[in-house]
Amino acid sequence: MTGAPFAHRHLLGIEDLSAEEIVRVLDLAETFVEISERPIKKVPTLRGKTVINLFMEPSTRTRTSFEIAAKRLSADAINISGSTSSTTKGETLLDTARNLQAMAPDVIVIRHSSSGAPHFIAKHVGAAVINAGDGTHEHPTQALLDCATIRKHKGKIAGLTIAICGDIAHSRVARSDLLALTKLGAKVRLSGPRTMLPAGVEQLGAEVHPRIESAVADADVVMMLRIQQERLDHGATKTSLFPNTREYSRYFGLGNRVAAMLKPDAIIMHPGPINRGVELDPGIADGARSVILDQVTYGVAVRMALLYLLGGGTRPEE
Ligand code: CP
Repeated sequence: MTGAPFAHRHLLGIEDLSAEEIVRVLDLAETFVEISERPIKKVPTLRGKTVINLFMEPSTRTRTSFEIAAKRLSADAINISGSTSSTTKGETLLDTARNLQAMAPDVIVIRHSSSGAPHFIAKHVGAAVINAGDGTHEHPTQALLDCATIRKHKGKIAGLTIAICGDIAHSRVARSDLLALTKLGAKVRLSGPRTMLPAGVEQLGAEVHPRIESAVADADVVMMLRIQQERLDHGATKTSLFPNTREYSRYFGLGNRVAAMLKPDAIIMHPGPINRGVELDPGIADGARSVILDQVTYGVAVRMALLYLLGGGTRPEE
């Protein structure tokens, strides 16, 4: 397998990757897309390897696509969710990780509500650790699949204008996307209610647009984000960040009025899950410019590439 080296034991965040390493993952993911289009969707690349998916928060896309990616590479995939794990009986995350390590997995994929949990686990296990979303910090594999999807539809990332709109402050997707897209040379605009725009994002290279209309004007890509309600439901912040859902949708959502302002060839993205009618009109989510389900398709290929790189796989052509 050719390409720039990928000298990492874990994937904990986009902040650790160079532009060349991101491109290496995207190029490799392209080579894995075709496997999912075959009648028999399986290659022996990771035969004999074990991947544990430890998801301490809910997930549809990320957990399923890691499981499918592992199985298409012939690895054994084991899924553990927070609600069915012994953490409900008081076991610590560290004890959980040490016990999983005692079963000799090659890769542990972890999603956790605490920022930094994957970094903590990585210090205590021998397996490669992949961050599948930690608190409000990062969701690196989502950013990589978003980059892969944009590159497929636009042919490039450098020079594009990309508007990310919604609850930026609580979104690990926004943070990882901002890091990845700016490293690859895109111009990133962040838009949302002022209460959902974190201070200091300009220092990470973003333009801040409190109004969605100016954020999406001339944008090549518009990415809408869900309000991260699960991160707001703590004490006094619960209802204070925006007046109500109807006003949020009217002023900060992507409906037909704002969509009419978009460039004709702009694509519309969303990491999912969508709250239809809140941040995104259902007709636009399902419309011709939406590439939302392509993001999901690329999620499998990108996760196959990462399991290959970190799980010690070999391919027949090597
Ligand atoms: N985009 C994303 O992380 O979706 P899930 O929460 O369903 O995994």
